[in-house]
Amino acid sequence: MFGELRLASKDRLKMKNEELYRIFKLHDKPIELSPMQKVIFYEIIDFSHIRTQIIAPTQYGKTLTVALAILTAAVGMSERFTVLAPSEKKARILMNYCIEHLFDSEVFLSALDLDPNITWDKLRRERTRTNLSFKGGGGIQVLSLDARNTRRNIEAVMGFGGNRLILDESSLIDDPLYATVKRMLGGYKYSDTFLLEIGNPFYRNHFYRTWNSDLYHKIFIDYHIGLQEGRYSPEFIDEVRDEAYFDIFYECKFPEPDQLDARGYRFLVTDTEYQKSLIETPVPDGELKLGADIGAGGDFNVFTVRSQKCAWVEEKNQTQDTMTNVNVIRDIMKKRKITARNVFVDDIGIGRGVTDRLKELGIKVNGISSGAKPKDTTRYKNIKAEMTWNFRKWIKEGGKLVKNEGYNQVLWIKYKVSTDKVIQIEPKDELMQRTGKSPDYFDSLALTFAPQKPEPKIRFI
Ligand SMILES: Nc1ncnc2c1ncn2[C@@H]1O[C@H](COP(=O)(O)OP(=O)(O)OP(=O)(O)O)[C@@H](O)[C@H]1O
Ligand SMILES: [Mg+2]
Repeated sequence: MFGELRLASKDRLKMKNEELYRIFKLHDKPIELSPMQKVIFYEIIDFSHIRTQIIAPTQYGKTLTVALAILTAAVGMSERFTVLAPSEKKARILMNYCIEHLFDSEVFLSALDLDPNITWDKLRRERTRTNLSFKGGGGIQVLSLDARNTRRNIEAVMGFGGNRLILDESSLIDDPLYATVKRMLGGYKYSDTFLLEIGNPFYRNHFYRTWNSDLYHKIFIDYHIGLQEGRYSPEFIDEVRDEAYFDIFYECKFPEPDQLDARGYRFLVTDTEYQKSLIETPVPDGELKLGADIGAGGDFNVFTVRSQKCAWVEEKNQTQDTMTNVNVIRDIMKKRKITARNVFVDDIGIGRGVTDRLKELGIKVNGISSGAKPKDTTRYKNIKAEMTWNFRKWIKEGGKLVKNEGYNQVLWIKYKVSTDKVIQIEPKDELMQRTGKSPDYFDSLALTFAPQKPEPKIRFI
């Protein structure tokens, strides 16, 4: 089927191969695209419209469908595609789908134009490849549009196939970089260009403007359609309904203008939620946790203790002496009967000294560095995002804070979606520019929501 394909004209290709995509496999069976996935697939194979914008829910199969379509057109029609993504991780997901599905058919493998010293096996294991070339002249390349890739870089890469462009998660590409891409398309005759933008409607940026432009052909898919098509189960939708960004991820609605600040951030909790959480006296029920935020010069060291349902400031001081803070932690642990596994100390700057000293004393507390890898990498950018989000869930579900002016800092915290499409908390330096202060009370509270470090494995030699 594909043998003829390379020679076939576009019309013949469409007529003869209504189910062209079934050459691809998923779990060793021919893939079944859902009705709207087919629409996306043929939108690309046929170059039906010069400008297309597709809004579709998360995990719908956007990137996979795009990958299968461009692989088909690159091999079957010798087309050259450039896929732009907002982050390297997102660009890699697409390239990995392309590589994985090359192995679905001999047709793709034999069309590959590979460097002789790269075996198929090696290709499959490669994790840094950004392009694939095919003997007929077709090709695929991916590029991430992040700060690391300068404008010149982008221009150089787009020379390869700059008139057939796909923007995956287009809304997460910022306006200046998007403008650069658009300018480059201007170098081609309009009718020779093809630009398909696909993603969730995260921001009211260029993605919002094009959605309202007559120049674009638009396809809208939300979770209701995904449900009808069987891409999601009702149970799954119920489960994610209260998660962050359900409106954007699944309902596929652009945010209201007043929901976001100019940089795209939203507040973590509302004033009403915060006020509702305040109580007068601690309720020390069940197992307790301790979060110790050790501040740098002039900032407070704050120690929050939290039970299942309630958190309070146990102590604060301004000492810069490591041993004093070590002793404060030991005293709180003793008084409140908190085990070392339930103690979380920040592991950066001065906090590192405190963590190290405690460990030397045999008190195996959790040293938490906020930038470290989270437990759930599919949702959070780092530990900071993970613990902050755990706090948000807790307070929304009725968690209580014992009144303390310091906890007003809860209202300072903002979050947004990162270019990897995971939750990110506003960096401390940007927050401090807004507030003029380090959020030490909030940090100590958030630390009580950090994931526990795994127990060290005992090794026998
Ligand atoms: N037609 C299908 N049949 C079975 N599985 C599918 C189908 N389409 C997509 N999937 C699976 O769904 C998952 C998500 O696919 P994909 O990464 O393409 O989604 P996405 O919409 O790009 O998600 P994200 O919003 O996270 O970028 C993958 O595991 C993929 O294999
Ligand atoms: Mg995707």
